[in-house]
Amino acid sequence: MLPSVIVVLMLISFTCGENPAIQVILTDKGLQYGKHVGAGWIQDKLESITFPDISGEIDISIFGTVYYTLTGMTITKCDFPEPSVEFYQDSTGFKTSISGLSVALTGGWRTQFGIIHDGGSFDMAIFNVDVTSVVELGMDPDGHLSVTSVRCEAVVGDVDIQFHGGASWIFEPFVDHYKGRIRGEIEGKICPNVEESIINLESHLQAMKVSFDVDQYLTLDLPLTGSPVVDNSSLNLGLKGEFYSIKTHAEPPFEAQPFTMPEQPDYMLSVGLSEFTLNSASYAYYSAGLFQALINDSMVPPSSPVHLNTSAMGPFIPQLPKMFPGLLMDLQVYAREVPLFSFQPGAVALGFQGAIKAFAIQPNGTQTPLFKLNVDSKFSGKVWIADERLKGSMAMNNLTLTLVSSEVGTFKTDAIEGLARMGATLAMARLNEKLGKGVVLPRMKDVQLVNTVLEMDEGFIAISSDAQLITDRGFN
Ligand SMILES: *[C@@H]1O[C@H](CO)[C@@H](O)[C@H](O)[C@H]1NC(C)=O
Ligand SMILES: *[C@@H]1O[C@H](CO)[C@@H](O)[C@H](O)[C@H]1NC(C)=O
Ligand SMILES: *[C@@H]1O[C@H](CO)[C@@H](O)[C@H](O)[C@H]1NC(C)=O
Ligand SMILES: *[C@@H]1O[C@H](CO)[C@@H](O)[C@H](O)[C@H]1NC(C)=O
Ligand SMILES: *[C@@H]1O[C@H](CO)[C@@H](O)[C@H](O)[C@H]1NC(C)=O
Repeated sequence: MLPSVIVVLMLISFTCGENPAIQVILTDKGLQYGKHVGAGWIQDKLESITFPDISGEIDISIFGTVYYTLTGMTITKCDFPEPSVEFYQDSTGFKTSISGLSVALTGGWRTQFGIIHDGGSFDMAIFNVDVTSVVELGMDPDGHLSVTSVRCEAVVGDVDIQFHGGASWIFEPFVDHYKGRIRGEIEGKICPNVEESIINLESHLQAMKVSFDVDQYLTLDLPLTGSPVVDNSSLNLGLKGEFYSIKTHAEPPFEAQPFTMPEQPDYMLSVGLSEFTLNSASYAYYSAGLFQALINDSMVPPSSPVHLNTSAMGPFIPQLPKMFPGLLMDLQVYAREVPLFSFQPGAVALGFQGAIKAFAIQPNGTQTPLFKLNVDSKFSGKVWIADERLKGSMAMNNLTLTLVSSEVGTFKTDAIEGLARMGATLAMARLNEKLGKGVVLPRMKDVQLVNTVLEMDEGFIAISSDAQLITDRGFN
């Protein structure tokens, strides 16, 4: 008993108090579109459905027991009215109903009555089937979405059966008599089938990954942080949305802050992305030591007026060409602190605090340290969605260089700061060319996002969108 209580408490302490960094909201519009697509899909599937044989026995009081088997049943016609589905607050889930479903079937029959075997074909019509199913959504200990059936009701309005061939004329009169029972048997089969498909869905959900490797360095954790929230117009899922370094798996020294998504009932779904998600990626790269680069002269475009050569440094560090003439230089650039993004209404800000260590490369290959500069820079950017692509632009707002230490004596940083700004401006122009082209919005296998809008808010980005099936035939 006690161990299980401890486990429960541990789970609570893990999940409570952790704010989701990603929120996904499904609106009623999205639910209705999903239902419409799902209904079309079910209708398509119904036509090709095959039923297992049904066997049973009927006691016909004066004659004895007749054993029967209905085989090879296929649907010949199906009247599939549009089901209804709604968010169901009472059970944190959905309520789905279909009313007035009618199905015509055809198949074969066999009977055994004593030593008499008989057989033929039959047509069956099942009229006015009403089914109501209520499912509850929840979260399992691993943060998967879970779904359970909490209620199912099925009513079959009427059944009509016509037997052909064999000695069907003998038992045809009994059909009316046993219609109630046949109706009951069909009724009794519907809910177990519904429940089975819900269990099936649940096992798919259980098998879903909640952690994804993004590249060789980063993994993204996406378990639910709490139970789904359902109100009468939406379903809200909170996901952890945290990147980790695959190497260190270190927890960043900052936490996800809560945020409230604006209601967007005119879109099918909304996704809110906290700045925490981006910053956790930044921290993961930082903790794995990936925010560092070595810049050498072969990376400087040949057309550049300045090269990483001590002889070319005269205008910036007058004593350098005298102390170390004609040597190539290396620059070690790295982040001193985690570069952090901050989302603000209409803009994103990024602070970068880094350092540059400069070395002269001696003819024998030895690297002689020259000086170390701190770089403090601020960037601001915008992101937007156009032509179904996520686009952006970045600008550098500030860049200051401070001399931290020097093996070549002190020097003024103004000139070299101007050079760094020029370099950064060139780099930003190249970056903006890429950002301006943008990246295609993520698409699922057969579903595409349309009418997508993006809004930057305090601490998060809200993306709202409609979805559209790419093929007309449903997702196969
Ligand atoms: C949904 O709930 C809100 C308040 O909880 C209420 O104002 C609104 O009328 C409800 N809408 C429907 C369609 O029931
Ligand atoms: C500069 O660095 C690149 C990549 O690290 C390397 O391939 C190249 O040989 C280096 N060039 C010089 C001149 O050191
Ligand atoms: C560095 O620049 C000087 C002067 O322009 C040149 O003579 C020298 O060859 C350059 N060094 C290297 C290794 O390219
Ligand atoms: C390489 O050359 C530098 C400068 O000439 C010298 O100080 C250093 O000792 C040399 N290193 C080796 C390993 O030869
Ligand atoms: C640029 O940064 C320096 C030092 O961090 C600061 O004093 C200055 O006000 C900043 N300028 C702008 C325009 O933000």
